[in-house]
Amino acid sequence: MTVLFTNIKELIQVRDKNVQKVSGKAMKELPTIKNAFLYIENDTIIDFGTMDELQNTKADDIIDCTGKMILPTWCDSHTHLVYAGNREQEFIDRINGLTYQEIAHKGGGIVNSAKKLQETSEDELYEQSKNRLLEVIQMGTGAIEIKSGYGLTTAAELKMLQVVKRLKQEFSIPIKTTFLAAHALPPFYKNNKNGFMKLVIEEMLPKVAEQKLADFIDIFCEKGYFDIDDTHELLKAANKYQLKAKIHVNQFNSIGGIQTAVQHQALSVDHLEVMTEEDIQTLKASNTMPVALPSCSYFLSIPYTPARRLIDEGMALALATDYNPGSTPSGNMNFVVATACIKMKLTPEEAINAATLNGAFAMELSHEVGSITKGKKANFIITKNIPSYGYLPYAFGSNNIECVFINGKRIA
Ligand code: NIG
Ligand code: FE
Repeated sequence: MTVLFTNIKELIQVRDKNVQKVSGKAMKELPTIKNAFLYIENDTIIDFGTMDELQNTKADDIIDCTGKMILPTWCDSHTHLVYAGNREQEFIDRINGLTYQEIAHKGGGIVNSAKKLQETSEDELYEQSKNRLLEVIQMGTGAIEIKSGYGLTTAAELKMLQVVKRLKQEFSIPIKTTFLAAHALPPFYKNNKNGFMKLVIEEMLPKVAEQKLADFIDIFCEKGYFDIDDTHELLKAANKYQLKAKIHVNQFNSIGGIQTAVQHQALSVDHLEVMTEEDIQTLKASNTMPVALPSCSYFLSIPYTPARRLIDEGMALALATDYNPGSTPSGNMNFVVATACIKMKLTPEEAINAATLNGAFAMELSHEVGSITKGKKANFIITKNIPSYGYLPYAFGSNNIECVFINGKRIA
């Protein structure tokens, strides 16, 4: 099946195969072709260029895109999309003055979600998660990472990971799985962190690896959760199973998580709302991708990642949602891109690069998605009639997506 898209007002994020990510000043450049065509065969991008260059107009289907733009689907490299129920009561508690940490102290937070998840059947968990995934695909997400971490027992963590496995089987977008058992201490281990780490490293990790249920490892490296010794031990153990690290660091405090992550050649470090000068320099000297989660900062009213500074230092940056029931009950990448421009002072070019190509890099998927490139997956967004791509983050409350193509098929 071949499809030809013609008269595309602007074809956005057109790249050569060899560009795996963009950093610093290069993030300001977003290569596009005006008045373009795009030709796909089955699930693959075969050709593109200007309408003047179009020679062979034969295709099984021709779609006229006059007035519309095409860009690669969003690559959301950090989500906790598999969860049970919601936590809107904690949202109200925060409106009434409690902080995220105070709520966690009272037995709310991650532990609250874990209790709900443990009581929810795998089928029910799958149904809830499937609906969230369908929703975010309709909003333009075409590759996603999903974490465990609301199980906190061996059985419940495996249940979460089984649900992700089913999502991988049912959905045609690339999904990467991250094992995040060290997310919070469950009540039974409240005064026995070492005991819990032992359980994670000696019981859960080998099972997860044996059953090939995870691509990456994660830990919540934060005061009151897990420290750098725990992080070091876990990353060392995960290394034996070739699980690269994508870890939660510097959300509320800088406790050395970035240094530990870089030492272990982590694929990404995520959150980074609080960064010291030393953190910035360490990260700058590494190949680890910084991932900012602006809708988390928005929802919790915490500082935004100093993304402007990182890019001005010459570093790369990826943007992701952090979709989860506690700190970010939204999987909308359009809002993430807009908020990065509005609150972190990224230009639309930088934000789109961060939410596509660099997001793909943060999941080791740059070879498959993240740009309009010959040989990559035909996963893209067709916009409504819009004046420019800068209009996408500008009109932040509007739905500017007309439809989404995944593997060459129109899905929404
Ligand atoms: O990335 N910070 C750690 N984990 C999640 C939130 C977890 C929750 O509150 O349920 C995050 O923000
Ligand atoms: Fe997270």
